[in-house]
Amino acid sequence: MRYPSQTMKTLFITAAGCLIACSILAQATITVDVNKPGHAVPPTLWGIFFEDINLSADGGIYPELVRNRSFEDSDQPDHWKLSNAAGGQSAMNVDDSAPLNPLNRHSLRVKVNGAFTLENEGYWGMNIVKGDSYTFRFAARATDGFTNPVNAKIVSSSGNELAGAEISRFAGNWRYHTLDLVAFDSDPKARLQISGSGQGTLFLDMVSLMPRTTWKGHGLRTDLAEALQALHPSFMRFPGGNWIEGDDLAHMYHWKTTIGDIDARTPLWNTWGYNTTQGLGFEEYLQLCEDLGAEPLFDINCGMSLHDSVPLGQMGQWTQDALDAIDYANGPTNTVWGGLRAQNGHPAPFHLKYMEIGNENGGPDYYARWLLLVNAIRAKYPDMQLIANTDLRGRPYPRDPQPDIVDEHYYESPESFTRRANQYDTYSRSGPKIFVGEYAVTRNAGEGNLRAAIGEAAFMTGIERNSDVVIMASYAPLFVNVDHRAWNPDLISFDSSRWFGSPGYYVQQMFSENRGDVTLPITVDSGDVVEKPAIGCIGVGTWNTEAEFKDIKVTAPDGNVLFTSDFSTNSDGWKLLGDGAEWKVQDGALRQTAEKEFIRAIAGDRSWIDYTLELKARKLGGREGFLVLFHINNDQDRVWWNIGGWNNTQNAVELDEPTDMKAGYIETGHWYDIKIEVRGISIKCWLDGKLIHEILKPREATHRLYASTTQDRRTGDIILKVVNAADTPVNTEIKLQGVPHLSGSGKSMVLTSNSPWDENSLEEPAKVSPEAGTFDFPGDNLHRTFPGNSVTVLRIGMK
Ligand code: AHR
Repeated sequence: MRYPSQTMKTLFITAAGCLIACSILAQATITVDVNKPGHAVPPTLWGIFFEDINLSADGGIYPELVRNRSFEDSDQPDHWKLSNAAGGQSAMNVDDSAPLNPLNRHSLRVKVNGAFTLENEGYWGMNIVKGDSYTFRFAARATDGFTNPVNAKIVSSSGNELAGAEISRFAGNWRYHTLDLVAFDSDPKARLQISGSGQGTLFLDMVSLMPRTTWKGHGLRTDLAEALQALHPSFMRFPGGNWIEGDDLAHMYHWKTTIGDIDARTPLWNTWGYNTTQGLGFEEYLQLCEDLGAEPLFDINCGMSLHDSVPLGQMGQWTQDALDAIDYANGPTNTVWGGLRAQNGHPAPFHLKYMEIGNENGGPDYYARWLLLVNAIRAKYPDMQLIANTDLRGRPYPRDPQPDIVDEHYYESPESFTRRANQYDTYSRSGPKIFVGEYAVTRNAGEGNLRAAIGEAAFMTGIERNSDVVIMASYAPLFVNVDHRAWNPDLISFDSSRWFGSPGYYVQQMFSENRGDVTLPITVDSGDVVEKPAIGCIGVGTWNTEAEFKDIKVTAPDGNVLFTSDFSTNSDGWKLLGDGAEWKVQDGALRQTAEKEFIRAIAGDRSWIDYTLELKARKLGGREGFLVLFHINNDQDRVWWNIGGWNNTQNAVELDEPTDMKAGYIETGHWYDIKIEVRGISIKCWLDGKLIHEILKPREATHRLYASTTQDRRTGDIILKVVNAADTPVNTEIKLQGVPHLSGSGKSMVLTSNSPWDENSLEEPAKVSPEAGTFDFPGDNLHRTFPGNSVTVLRIGMK
């Protein structure tokens, strides 16, 4: 008997493996009519949206290293520490007896009695780099006989001096003192110390430490600005978002308080939970746009905050502010506002062409204010492109007067995004143009995983194909300081010295770098995949509410008990999540006492499919009721029954979006019996034995492949973007019709990873990032296998 040699055997096995693999590979066809070019791709298509959320500006791209430099954060010296040495008894407090200027009311008073050290660690450590220069500057005055010098030092996290110098000669009135400090070692977690000794009183204000080297010399953190530049944005919407609305009338954004002398800008408590210095003000935003080569798109407050509105009769200041903003950005230098721009360092106009009125307002109050503002702006600036918003409740955009552009926002699951890939195919071509001003996969997205990027990319192919109507799009939010994650996920995460892009960041980059200038008609025949059954573990949570939970039990459909809670001594087995959460075990229950948003505790097995979850819950205080989580795959998932949500007015099951919303109210102090049963596509929810929701969530089909094609008319390159939204590879025949001379070779960029749940991190910033390659193909015969969960850009040249 003869046996095949080892080599033969390997070949045989490989061939057999290929046969099996090839036969089970899904097949698809993509057809592109290269000889029938469609509409031009608008040059504005891919841009960015900058909102000061998650410490994106202060603590982020605005590189002030000192936190609470002007002591305006509160009436306490937040983020400052005073320590006494050698028996000293100095003390500090926030003082408003003699402000630095009328707009900078607070300063720090140090009652000096012996040796003291003031310390500020900035935003979780200051990034100090060996050999780099830093400007240390403060305003100071001394009274009650304080005459000694003080030392300003930058120290490493282990206390070693990295740079320092002495400052002396304080006067009774405010005087600025400046030092140029060069670091003789590096530490990303350094701190600032100001120490002195003696007797008397020392007042400090505007205590600032800034790197001398900033991006293009315009005062921004270089690595983060470069991260934006690498996206090649063609516009930048700023500065919000909810940020421009503010929580109430007193906290609305007014651009005029954010220009000129940095010491006289009005700080603003922002809706994302921190005080902003306005160091990144209107003029810095405009400068950033100019430096990025991006069209500025200014979003102005329309007299509406998140919770109240300026009376219609008092809107004069708001219309004037809108006109003045345009004058400031564009006016000649011999006008009031153009002159001020020149005085602030930028005589040339910024060429502002796009202005959005409000953010996510919607409804009659908005329509009335839209009318006022638009009429005033169009009377003076008829060419300004005015953008109206739509709110997240789906109320229509204002029709009177017609907007030039309408801003739509989407925050949904990956599957919803893939389904939206075709929504613009049927949009009116005679109405206003569309700006997708905010979009992101926010469900099952982790802190920004590959699966989320796939959903966004599929949606973006639809935007590109329909870019005759959708002329601008920007992901949101852009930045997050990893130590202050108010919103998740975000495109670019950073700490004091490092940053990384999410997989979605690379999708943005791949689309932006490969735009082309004309679309080519494309048809995709790839078959459908049906959504997989929902799986995941369970949890409990709160939103601005204190509550406790006990007797939590999960039972399989066959009656087998899968899980029971035991809070007799601890919360072992539970993952406690949420910024600022205060979980503890007490009296046999798991209790949460912080009135913060998005607080969760999760437990169980992430592969559970069908089960019944039972528990008892009691509200202790706060604004809402309970969140009862199920089918949790990822720590950031928001699949829950929201009981007493929306300020304790509604119950709803939050799946892709709030479903089956019904009036509901949770009483404080009452122990509620809660039960959720999930079986296949059915979800049932009971409260105190009463069936509240009975939902069928059919598993929807999505296509395997989503694609769009453009052509670069200068090089002739055909640019094909293909998203494989299925989990498995798809073997695809690509027919490029009507092209006489294909080059037979091309370049590829592929974004994929081992698991759709893979994410990047500070430690592994490029784990999910695109790989570049080249390929050859004979004649017109182009075949390619697109890996499951991948985004591919192919550039195919002409001969
Ligand atoms: O992008 C985060 C927030 O989401 C924005 O501030 C707001 O406009 C939207 O609801």
